[in-house]
Amino acid sequence: MKILGLCGSLRSDSLNRRLLEVAGRSLPGGAELDITTHVGDLPLFDEDLEVDPLPDAVQAFHAAVREADALLVASPEYNGSLTGPLKNALDWASRPGGDPALGDKPVAVIGASPSRFGAAWAQAETRRIAARIGAQVVPLELPVTEAPDAFTDGPALRDPELAERLERLVAALVDLADGRTDLDTLADHDDAVEGAATPPSIAA
Ligand SMILES: Cc1cc2nc3c(=O)[nH]c(=O)nc-3n(C[C@H](O)[C@H](O)[C@H](O)COP(=O)(O)O)c2cc1C
Repeated sequence: MKILGLCGSLRSDSLNRRLLEVAGRSLPGGAELDITTHVGDLPLFDEDLEVDPLPDAVQAFHAAVREADALLVASPEYNGSLTGPLKNALDWASRPGGDPALGDKPVAVIGASPSRFGAAWAQAETRRIAARIGAQVVPLELPVTEAPDAFTDGPALRDPELAERLERLVAALVDLADGRTDLDTLADHDDAVEGAATPPSIAA
């Protein structure tokens, strides 16, 4: 199973990219995580660019998203929300209208920040946007707080409870992609967050 990792940070020493690397090591057997570099290559979304052919970077990103069985997103929080590059990538993934590259793929969201809140708002916003596009959003979160001290050199999470929570989250993503679970079942998960899997009812 191919899982595409999207990092909301473009920073070379990103804690969220490190979190994705840890998540890649936490996947059950048979699943592989490929952390895409396309997020930073994409042009700023502009409907004028939606002509044939699409910009090369958009074509490459769309192909990577379409080829993936599921997406795992890690985003820092910028001013209480997801980052601009990640929103831009999600907007491109929502296109073309009627046949979005993202489709109804399973998506899970995690996040790390130096604060005590672990990018929880950014994660909630990202889940809401992915659900709005039509993705099947895993109703779990992973707020990694005080992130500069959260990792070993391994890399791994220092806190064993948090490490287990990450394993449960990525297992839920893989199970959803494999059809071994569904969103209703995941909503009853002990770690489930309220309303995370419910797409807004506004018509597209
Ligand atoms: C423009 C900007 C806004 C930020 N706003 C928040 C915020 O609202 N909440 C938070 O917890 N951290 C905030 N931070 C701190 C980031 O969480 C921190 O820089 C983090 O390490 C970035 O993630 P990265 O290590 O993956 O690049 C902000 C950082 C920047 C640059």
